Amino acid sequence: MVRRPAYLHAVGLAVLLSILTTLIVAPAHAVSGDTSAVSQHGMVVAETAEASAAGVEILKHGGNAIDAACAAALATGVTHAASCGIGGGGFMLFYLASTGKYYALDYRERAPLKATATMFVRDGHPDESLARSGALAIAVPGEIAGIDAVLRRYGTMTFQQVAAPAVRLAENGFALSPHLAREISSMADHLKLDPGLAAVFLKPDGTAPKPGDIIFQKNLAATLRRLGDQPAEVFYRGPIAEELVQFIQGHGGIVTSEDFAAYQPVWREPLHRAYRGFDVYVMPPPSSGGVLLEMLGMLETGPLGGLGVNSSPYLARIIEVMREGFIDREKYADPAFVKVPVVELLSAQHIDQARERALHHKLTPPPAETAHDHGTANLIVADRQGDVVVLTTTINTSFGARLMDPKLGIILNNEMDDFGVAPGVPNAFRLEGEPANEVAPGKRPLSSMAPVIVAKNGKPILAVGGSGGPTIVTGVLQVMLDVLDFHLGPGVSVDLPRIHEQASPETVIVEEKMPAQTSSALTQMGYRLRVVPMLGAVGALKTQPGNLQGAADGRKGGLASGY
Ligand code: GLY
Repeated sequence: MVRRPAYLHAVGLAVLLSILTTLIVAPAHAVSGDTSAVSQHGMVVAETAEASAAGVEILKHGGNAIDAACAAALATGVTHAASCGIGGGGFMLFYLASTGKYYALDYRERAPLKATATMFVRDGHPDESLARSGALAIAVPGEIAGIDAVLRRYGTMTFQQVAAPAVRLAENGFALSPHLAREISSMADHLKLDPGLAAVFLKPDGTAPKPGDIIFQKNLAATLRRLGDQPAEVFYRGPIAEELVQFIQGHGGIVTSEDFAAYQPVWREPLHRAYRGFDVYVMPPPSSGGVLLEMLGMLETGPLGGLGVNSSPYLARIIEVMREGFIDREKYADPAFVKVPVVELLSAQHIDQARERALHHKLTPPPAETAHDHGTANLIVADRQGDVVVLTTTINTSFGARLMDPKLGIILNNEMDDFGVAPGVPNAFRLEGEPANEVAPGKRPLSSMAPVIVAKNGKPILAVGGSGGPTIVTGVLQVMLDVLDFHLGPGVSVDLPRIHEQASPETVIVEEKMPAQTSSALTQMGYRLRVVPMLGAVGALKTQPGNLQGAADGRKGGLASGY
């Protein structure tokens, strides 16, 4: 496990480091714990060391940030296999220095064309377990379509060039990280039931491997090679689609060849909003990026930084703002199916009203549970031209649908659980089903993935993204505030203990690393707290050209590295 400095020590260290790092421009070196770095030419912040190295390898070979992000995403899919992979999908938000523009690519999974709003109802009752695992939980993957689309339009390398590090890791093996070892161990009983997953992730005697044991994914390596340099064609309209359809239908799923053939990623216009002199760019729906902008809008009045880093008055303020944001999240969904009132939700009038509610909310906390998610992965890349990419990718919860096509080595997502299976029925993240986000054929489920780029005078100065279901939105918010309002460096900001509030259930989740006096001050204010070992992971990268400062999150054991 990565060691992290103590909270107060870390804050003091941050001030010192931010002074030092503005004076020193040096090759990549660790600056906070083992997961942060400073570098001059390019940097990759990823949730595994191998993925970070894969991205840096591509940058060093002349690739741009788009090439490196694709390489790091594919390598993450191998080394962080419980969280993401080519059986899933994601979002990519990026800035290109050559055009001075911000771009958003949505390659989220889509519901199969045979899906219906009642597909998870049995004997008149919604059966949530069907959306959580098994073949009905599988939505049409978007990962390869997204990577292919962005490489063709803005990359400089071929698919096989960017896939090379991932192929090597899958073919030659990689040392199991503590994070993936924990996921395998906690999911071992499920993995045993699937021959593909058991063969790769369990030992021959059915027990879980230990951190440091070598994991091979030779069939996945072969599949990545088979994709050649026309990956979308081969994956969606060629033999791989046929094999996947046969596998999914053989397990009772409803995904067809037509679903694969019809899948297209969507180029979208990023949403953006001013915040204290910065411009914040986020993914539009079906991401929850707009919710993050609304939270920032509510926080814009008053001197937030003066409240003190992670002080109880500060935390109480952001808890109320998180609650209001999550209440409005129910209006978000796939914009091809539902009119999401983004303009109204981000209007000054609506934000003023939400802020008023946040300031005067009366606490009536019922006891409740909230899911702790280990799925999804985020990565951030900056290159020497000044391009910046934030990419979040997922197969949803740990090991997705818990099904791997054994011949192809592809783990299938359970993204159907990100829909509301029925009004009021909570999903794996205890987010309740809302009509806007009900299942429909070809629809994309609402996502909490929220890559963010913060700009000053048009140019990126900070990129942030995370993993961990709805804790992405609140985790990204807290790290942004720590950097923008409290002037902390990325390493300390990522490292500080965090909280999470999502309106329902009305319980504030607090990391156990939060100082006891802070938690007890929140309890005295009337908040019902639930203490958890850790919330989702967040990565951050300060993107000043020539002085890149990045931090991966020790919670999942990632790495920032550069050159
Ligand atoms: N699958 C997690 C999310 O997209 O929110």
